[in-house]
Amino acid sequence: MEYGQEDKPLRVLDNLNFTMHGGDTVAIVGPSGSGKTTLLQLLAALEQPSSGYIELDKQKLSTLSTDELADFRRDNMGIVFQSFHLIDSLSALANAALPLDIAGHVDALPRAKKMLESVGLGHRVNHYPQQLSGGEQQRVAIARALVHQPRLILADEPTGNLDENTGKMVADLLFDLHAQSQATLVIVTHDMRLAKRCKKLFCLEKGKLIVEENRDLLV
Ligand SMILES: Nc1ncnc2c1ncn2[C@@H]1O[C@H](COP(=O)(O)OP(=O)(O)OP(=O)(O)O)[C@@H](O)[C@H]1O
Ligand SMILES: [Mg+2]
Repeated sequence: MEYGQEDKPLRVLDNLNFTMHGGDTVAIVGPSGSGKTTLLQLLAALEQPSSGYIELDKQKLSTLSTDELADFRRDNMGIVFQSFHLIDSLSALANAALPLDIAGHVDALPRAKKMLESVGLGHRVNHYPQQLSGGEQQRVAIARALVHQPRLILADEPTGNLDENTGKMVADLLFDLHAQSQATLVIVTHDMRLAKRCKKLFCLEKGKLIVEENRDLLV
């Protein structure tokens, strides 16, 4: 993956080749600037690789139009961004309900409320993002990512802004939801304790990827 102009490209990811299966839990680790967020954005089809391809469920992402990609993402993916990306003009409840609303589910609000309760925010449903702490915003973002039971969950440092107990609660929630589904869970993290709960470890360093498979899980 290269960023920038053709005359002076910045190569961030170099010659990556890997497969993930339904039900996998994958941790992506590596130093700041090593390309973890870039890799997650490629998996979310929010960036296109400068060469090579990404296939999800036998579907080559590069063959989809922008609209088809948006539908594909809406139906299959839950994304927790490093900087939350909540919508400031919507309450926590409306933010969490968004994926269901967009897909036209009539029970969007009760389902979103339940999801917010499960991330410990039942008492904050009517608050707007600016009225929430960083950790609370992160949990709304997680509720929004998981509310439509996606098959691919992509989380960029989902516990990065949380205290130890809340971080563990959020991680438990991600793994619980994952255990109830056949979803693939991909977590970017600097927290090795969280990374160790994943079956596969992807280590990024200087653009290269080292994959450790089938690790002994330390739960
Ligand atoms: N849109 C962009 N245009 C140009 N360069 C970019 C762009 N996005 C990221 N980069 C560069 O690519 C490299 C990888 O960035 P990335 O955000 O993927 O790192 P990261 O591993 O997620 O880091 P962190 O742990 O700090 O979040 C960085 O050197 C960054 O400056
Ligand atoms: Mg990042």
